Amino acid sequence: CGITGYIGTNDAKEILLKGLEKLEYRGYDSAGIALENRDGIHIFKEKGRIADLRSAVDSNVVAQAGIGHTRWATHGAPSKANAHPHQSGAGRFTLVHNGVIENESELRAEFLQDVSFKSDTDTEVIVQLIEKFSKDMGTEEAFMKTLRLLKGSYAIAMLDTQTPDTIFVAKNKSPLLVGVGEDFHVVASDAMAMIQITDQFIELMDKEIVIVKKDRADIYNLQGEVIIRKPYRAELDVTDIEKGTYPHFMLKEIDEQPLVMRKIIQAYQNEDGNLEIDSDIKQAMGATDRIYIIACGTSYHAGLVGKQLIEKLAKIPVEVHLASEFGYNMPLLSAKPIFIFISQSGETADSRAVLVKVKEMGHCAITITNVPGSTLSREADYTMLLHAGPEIAVASTKAYTAQVAVLAILASDAGAATGAKAELDVVKELGIVASAMETLCNSKEEFEKIATEYLAVAFDCFFIGRSVDYYVGLEGALKLKEISYIQAEGFAGGELKHGTIALIERHTPVIALATQFGVNGAIRANVREVAARGASTCIISMKGLETEGDRFVLPAVHELLTPLVSVIPLQLISYYAALHRGCDVDKPRNLAKSVTVE
Ligand code: G6P
Repeated sequence: CGITGYIGTNDAKEILLKGLEKLEYRGYDSAGIALENRDGIHIFKEKGRIADLRSAVDSNVVAQAGIGHTRWATHGAPSKANAHPHQSGAGRFTLVHNGVIENESELRAEFLQDVSFKSDTDTEVIVQLIEKFSKDMGTEEAFMKTLRLLKGSYAIAMLDTQTPDTIFVAKNKSPLLVGVGEDFHVVASDAMAMIQITDQFIELMDKEIVIVKKDRADIYNLQGEVIIRKPYRAELDVTDIEKGTYPHFMLKEIDEQPLVMRKIIQAYQNEDGNLEIDSDIKQAMGATDRIYIIACGTSYHAGLVGKQLIEKLAKIPVEVHLASEFGYNMPLLSAKPIFIFISQSGETADSRAVLVKVKEMGHCAITITNVPGSTLSREADYTMLLHAGPEIAVASTKAYTAQVAVLAILASDAGAATGAKAELDVVKELGIVASAMETLCNSKEEFEKIATEYLAVAFDCFFIGRSVDYYVGLEGALKLKEISYIQAEGFAGGELKHGTIALIERHTPVIALATQFGVNGAIRANVREVAARGASTCIISMKGLETEGDRFVLPAVHELLTPLVSVIPLQLISYYAALHRGCDVDKPRNLAKSVTVE
């Protein structure tokens, strides 16, 4: 979910709606705003997108304060009733919330038996509690008392009709920032939402509240002690968060990949022109006996590629785990483990839960993220940045290739610390990758044709590969299912015969990657096996390994870096498949880009 708030001298309505549009990637099943002016509170909510909310808002209501919310449903179905803001029974308090309150039923039973609820959300419990407590105390006290009772995660912004010059803000585990302007303050889940009007933001820590007024923002902890923190400047380029001439962010972000490779080279290059990681990270890598990579979704797939890079280049054993599994089913750890968290957003709650746990256990953690200052970055010992620029399309593209490139740099430089023989001239090879990526981005019609030919009427699609091609196949399958809703799975070529091949029917599309010398013959044998059972096969191979009949031949790059190029056709095929099916490419159903609930 995403939150906005504004208090100042301009009309809050447009600022809140524009902010929500920028936060829509965080969830978009319903949205709402509350505007506060002399006549009281005006709430507008709608199921669906911000565009739906925009048409429901009464343009005659003018207000200098307000809060907004775009939702990704956790408690209660997406509906107008469950959309935020939520109000207390007597209507005095109006609140938006991102997060999950774990003890909502206990709180209902203990304090709110006499209250009749208007929604199924855990959020309503918060606002009803505040109203209950405010009968005997001031709003600030009631706010703090309620927050002290909550278990779970929250980013909250609240209006009180009795103090119309204030927005009450609180944060625990869910991201929230307060932006500072000349005669206004804003509240937002991330800086992108408000960068159009300010680049000065105050970071909030867990269990802090902020009393936000037009001309001041006072931070306290839940015991009421004052906290002093200066704003920082968010280094975001406004053009980075606009689509420009592109029809979709996803296509823009796919095209940005060569540039991102070059930015990464620049960012990690030392005076001698070599790519280097922070000396403390290098030392930690030299001292560990096993690396545990923790991630979700596309970042997990980058982690699988990272395992191979680190094991081959730095000779350190690596395990890759899904964050949502690791936390509850922790493997036996080695004597000197290091944890690497990979997260585009740096906010994913599943990953954060593991980070908190391993830090409690006293282990070293490195975060690889696109967002400086994000929660996972702040809470880890070290951060390596992706330098990919804001990624807005829900389906991750440039962050994946940036993650793989940064992992290659980490692996290769850590190799120096472990004494492994340097096998990869990373500067040179990433340069070759960037040029190859450009060639692929200029071959869009080819991938559009493949999408039309194989996927126009398909119900399912398989991606097969061996070795690292298998990992890229998993990512290709995820891309396709996320945005086109075609049932897609990635399989290890050799494993097909142990079950999956039963699914192959006449015309089942099978996309095979063949970029690895050692398994080139074996994967082609697997392609023949499925072709013999009627599959429509599409081989994407690499220059030097190609055979007649291959559907596309990728420009040659170093064998360890092939995922950086082989993923691009899969991204583009998914994009065109989704586009031709009339799907909402940038905002696929049921998904959110940054999932801040476990
Ligand atoms: C969500 C997104 C995925 C993403 C995953 C992990 O589910 O829809 O695209 O890969 O979260 O996100 P992170 O920000 O941690 O990389």
